[in-house]
Amino acid sequence: MQAFSLRDLEVQAQRRLDPAVYDYFAGGSDDEVTVRSNEAAFARIGLLPRVLRGAGPAELETTLLGCRLSMPVLIGPTAFHRLAHPEGERATARAAATTGTIMIVSMASTVAIEEVATAAREAAGGETNLWFQIYLQPDLGFTESVIRRAEAVGCSAIVVTVDSPTFGRRERDLSNGFSDLPPGMCCENLREPMNGNGSGKIRKIVFSPELSWKDIEWLRKVTELKIVLKGIVHPEDAKLALRHGADAVLVSNHGGRQLDTVPATIELLPAIVNAIDGRIPLLLDGGIRRGTDVLKALALGADAVAIGRPVLWGVALAGEAGVAQVLEMLRSELNRALTLCGCSSVRDLTPDLLQVRVVEELCTRR
Ligand code: FNR
Repeated sequence: MQAFSLRDLEVQAQRRLDPAVYDYFAGGSDDEVTVRSNEAAFARIGLLPRVLRGAGPAELETTLLGCRLSMPVLIGPTAFHRLAHPEGERATARAAATTGTIMIVSMASTVAIEEVATAAREAAGGETNLWFQIYLQPDLGFTESVIRRAEAVGCSAIVVTVDSPTFGRRERDLSNGFSDLPPGMCCENLREPMNGNGSGKIRKIVFSPELSWKDIEWLRKVTELKIVLKGIVHPEDAKLALRHGADAVLVSNHGGRQLDTVPATIELLPAIVNAIDGRIPLLLDGGIRRGTDVLKALALGADAVAIGRPVLWGVALAGEAGVAQVLEMLRSELNRALTLCGCSSVRDLTPDLLQVRVVEELCTRR
């Protein structure tokens, strides 16, 4: 069946997936206000294209923390890809590699990071662009062992998810009785080391309200990898991230799966841009479904965006080819949006392309 948009892909993926798995992927916490806001907020921002600028073909390439990307769209970390396709995160990694973008591998991936990296390397024919997402575990010794695994396979950044001091309440999952992975699948990155005291058993992820900026200081000392803080929404936290040596910040409300009624990330972006003031790269996720959404985020000051659910629809539909289709759709839409706006590059987008009223509203909100 033909698909013309990411939304078409979602409809098709929903037909294929077990309804409880679809709900796990699509759903959010509580009333899912934030899930809906993330997407709706992009639609409210009007574009004001420029004309007759002789811009020529649009350039989509960019660099981020030393990684070269064919476009400013990353694969954000999402758990449990094997629920969608037998190849799971291997398929996703191959698509990221052939598309020329970064895959942020979830700590809760159902394929071990070593195998994900091998798949990515084989598909890329060499160097890969993998970042590794972690939830800092209160057992710092175990956390360090997981970081060492990510380092050993060549991940170039650790993405610390900081918006999860406890688990969001997802009522779709509660009503479906969806709680654990089926037999034969587990979070391979949570396997205890076999040597020393470890038993090789799989740990459960601990979401800890004890975590603090001290733990980010600890992380800074134990690894030389770049550190990206994912889940910053408050400008004061953006300033603290700078002070604690973060190499980048990812503005995210976890796709509306943690605290419900956090505003749409695109509405939060301008205040974070002000706080960061160009000192480190800024990323955004949440509700990106169109090339025009990517363009709006970049025009408001993001260096790149990440996508979550659309990747899962791609995995569910056709594994590697499905994820590649998702990324290529966004690439083609972004390309067209840039040209229609009279822009020649993703690197020089400015807020003057957006409706003045909306920009003023967004920028004075805080
Ligand atoms: C997520 N997200 C997520 N984030 C994270 O840091 N670690 C994780 O393991 C997961 N797992 C996860 C599973 C599923 C099913 C979803 C939908 C999301 C959040 C994710 O990285 C991202 O912040 C949002 O998905 C972005 O919003 P969109 O693109 O899905 O609207």
